[in-house]
Amino acid sequence: MKNILCKNYQIHINNWSAFNKAIVKLKPSSVFVLADENTEKYCLSNLFEHLESRFNVISIPSGENHKTINTCQFVWSELVKNGADRQSLMINLGGGVVGDLGGFCAATYMRGIRFVQVPTTLLSQVDASVGGKLGVDFMGYKNMVGLIRDPSGVFIFTDFLKTLPQDQMRSGYAELLKHGLIADRETWDELSRNKTIQGLDIEDMVYQSLMIKKTVTERDPNEKGLRKILNFGHTIGHAVESYWMDSRTPLLHGEAVAIGIVGEAYLSYRVGNISENELFDIRNTILDVYGHHPKYVKPTGELIEIMKTDKKNSQGHIRFALLEAVGQACYDVEVRQDTIEESFLFYQQKM
Ligand SMILES: NC(=O)c1ccc[n+]([C@@H]2O[C@H](COP(=O)([O-])OP(=O)(O)OC[C@H]3O[C@@H](n4cnc5c(N)ncnc54)[C@H](O)[C@@H]3O)[C@@H](O)[C@H]2O)c1
Ligand SMILES: [Zn+2]
Repeated sequence: MKNILCKNYQIHINNWSAFNKAIVKLKPSSVFVLADENTEKYCLSNLFEHLESRFNVISIPSGENHKTINTCQFVWSELVKNGADRQSLMINLGGGVVGDLGGFCAATYMRGIRFVQVPTTLLSQVDASVGGKLGVDFMGYKNMVGLIRDPSGVFIFTDFLKTLPQDQMRSGYAELLKHGLIADRETWDELSRNKTIQGLDIEDMVYQSLMIKKTVTERDPNEKGLRKILNFGHTIGHAVESYWMDSRTPLLHGEAVAIGIVGEAYLSYRVGNISENELFDIRNTILDVYGHHPKYVKPTGELIEIMKTDKKNSQGHIRFALLEAVGQACYDVEVRQDTIEESFLFYQQKM
């Protein structure tokens, strides 16, 4: 059991008693649990066993392609039909899709009702549930419509991860690796020594990682500066993820970010911020966990075109969050196109 004090709310890890107390303290007129088809199947009974308040369940289909305004309309209509009022509370039980969409529905229903996040994927436990970013995809663009609003609390139960498929677990793990690399050398050293996810103290790792995300987002809630370091691995990662999205072999977000981490570690090396040894250590750690998939960093030209349209860039210049050292990061670093191409070659090389 651990807890983290944020500016406006608390994050509790593995503490059902704190969860129940927090809900009683909010004195909701009614409680709505939002789940998707998988969390309804795998997580709801556990919640039911522990949650002392009565609640209604709203269930949506799972997956990123349902993170849309259409699904919000369904959620809002369920809230109306079941008499949700301004004092109602929403509990978002699920991964980043349920958290982002459910938080958005709550923050807009009757100009905003309270919500708590109960993230059930590794990615949402260490990343999506903290920082207040909420929203849905629109017209094919990710997170195009949304807002920033803090939850009333975040309650993490690492037991939920027991039913999470291994590939989803590995995907979330990329954010843990990223957090270590950008802000905490000790965390990185521990993760890279371990090589696999098995055998790690998950509660401890989730805690360390959350501390990093919390510290960074609280210092820059609106992404004016520092928060951009969280994008390390994501400029190349997003391009790879988007390009292969509609193919027969799409990548999960974290799998694409893992490739991005290797590429952007190379860029950090080329601008003189990390040593060759450190670069190879990062590459080897990533390849041990995710394998080596050179086909994904092709076709070079199209990947670079996707990067130019990334909303973090302007006037066709590609800016990166890079490592300043292992455990430290900088942002808004402009990198030449031929150096980016080299980083793809570096990832592709067999060693
Ligand atoms: N708000 C933020 O700051 C932020 C940060 C990062 C990512 N995100 C968003 O998060 C989303 C991705 O989140 P995700 O990776 O959690 O995806 P997800 O919510 O789609 O969950 C992945 C899959 O796991 C299933 N699942 C969830 N919990 C389970 C469990 N305990 N057991 C078995 N299956 C379970 C889900 O039904 C889904 O099929 C994206 O939409 C992304 O934009 C938001
Ligand atoms: Zn990410």
